[in-house]
Amino acid sequence: NDNLSSIFVIFGGTGDLTHRKLIPAFYNLVRDKLIPEHFAIVTIGRRGMSQEEYKRDIYTAVNKYSRKKMDDVIWNQLQAMIHYYPFDFTDIYGYHALNSYLQDLDQKFQTNGNRVFYLAVAPEYFETIVQGLKNSNMSCCSRDFNRLVIEKPFGKDLTTARNLNNKILEVYPETSIYRIDHYLGKEMIQNIMVLRFANSVFEAVWNNKYVDNIQISLTETLGVGSRGGYYERSGAMRDMIQNHIFQILTLIAMEPPINLQMDSIRSEKQKVLAAIEDISPEFLKNNVIFGQYGKGIIEGKDVPAYREEKNVSDNSDTETFAAIKLHINNFRWAGTPFYVRTGKRLANGTAEIVVQFKTMPNILYFKDKDIQEPNLLILRIQPNVGVYFQFNTKDYHAHSGIIPAKMDTSTHNPIQGNTPEAYERLIYDILRGDASLFSRWDEVESAWMVADQLIQYREQAKIHFPNYAAGSMGPDASFELLAKDGRKWWNI
Ligand code: BG6
Repeated sequence: NDNLSSIFVIFGGTGDLTHRKLIPAFYNLVRDKLIPEHFAIVTIGRRGMSQEEYKRDIYTAVNKYSRKKMDDVIWNQLQAMIHYYPFDFTDIYGYHALNSYLQDLDQKFQTNGNRVFYLAVAPEYFETIVQGLKNSNMSCCSRDFNRLVIEKPFGKDLTTARNLNNKILEVYPETSIYRIDHYLGKEMIQNIMVLRFANSVFEAVWNNKYVDNIQISLTETLGVGSRGGYYERSGAMRDMIQNHIFQILTLIAMEPPINLQMDSIRSEKQKVLAAIEDISPEFLKNNVIFGQYGKGIIEGKDVPAYREEKNVSDNSDTETFAAIKLHINNFRWAGTPFYVRTGKRLANGTAEIVVQFKTMPNILYFKDKDIQEPNLLILRIQPNVGVYFQFNTKDYHAHSGIIPAKMDTSTHNPIQGNTPEAYERLIYDILRGDASLFSRWDEVESAWMVADQLIQYREQAKIHFPNYAAGSMGPDASFELLAKDGRKWWNI
């Protein structure tokens, strides 16, 4: 662990992400003995607060959000590493003092000048902070590494993402930039490649000859909560599709990489996005559905419409739901549609990938039958983690008849419980310098190229919102999108 020695600096130290994810992740990393002996965490926030006050706050956060129970010995180890540094990071003159502060900590903790700067702040501050790091020479001069971690959203469209990227590249090389997509830290997302490339039974049929369609559904029961201001400028397209859904899509559809090195994987992923067919006006009209929730009932409780949420305009046309049918125009996938959907305030909060295989010819057992249960492979990302597989078998209890057998590792496999939080894995990878689970610039760029066209369409189209009730599964049009192809969303 010695070569991971460093100071981990978090901009946004009093923010929601730091409390809910980053500090609890560090707690579990300390617990799992993955944090080196020579290590410090500096959390930067604008608020004037004593070390004690800050630590009291994050103690509460760890108690509430850590996946493992609070243990005072571990907490003491962690809290000794944490230093709260009050600083308004828009003050360009303050960075020199921060630099001196970090250099002093270097002496104290023997961290070799190694740095990770984690920007857990609103995206409008990314450039300012990177510039501040450059002007004060903080972006250079470590013994081993100096890394920059950027939370999403990376830009709000292709142009702003490119501008941001160019500004960052003036200061950091691509190899030192870690663009976070926390879905990539989830166990089941990492398992996609394992399932595909460690099982001949799956890889052999993973193509348009055998797969009828693939569905990626990330549905949430939560509304926008206190994030109305952010969400108004984002919507489901920027919040979930451009990043999480497109990342999952690339892992599901990519060709086998030539090895497991990060750039081999990332190159294959990028090619998937590049192969998404041209998006014509005709395509947009027929294949893209947007929705916004009205009021309704979730888990027995009345909940307000999106337009009634805090910091949301009462005639907002921001989409809280999107369903899209995509084609990946390459040899493996031409003709097999990918249906993706995501939405807030839906009846179920699940994240799943469904691979629906083609049915058998209507002969033998299926002679004169209209309906055949297809083989389904479901990768359950959350809240259950595991794999479901459905295949046809004889009905043992009857003289004849065929019924689907359902195998589901997510309910029976105890080792899937209590999986490491995505952020634990991601933070550990940042320290190890493994960027496989982070998005390379060309992936982000290709994702924006597709997403931008869909977003522009949504902005021009006059869609009557709200068009689905909270507690439903989204607008009717999302069901029609599949029904007109003779298909349906699976929800098993
Ligand atoms: C975030 C989005 O990236 O992902 C949120 O900004 C969303 O709006 C969240 O709720 C979903 O993540 P998870 O891990 O809870 O499925």
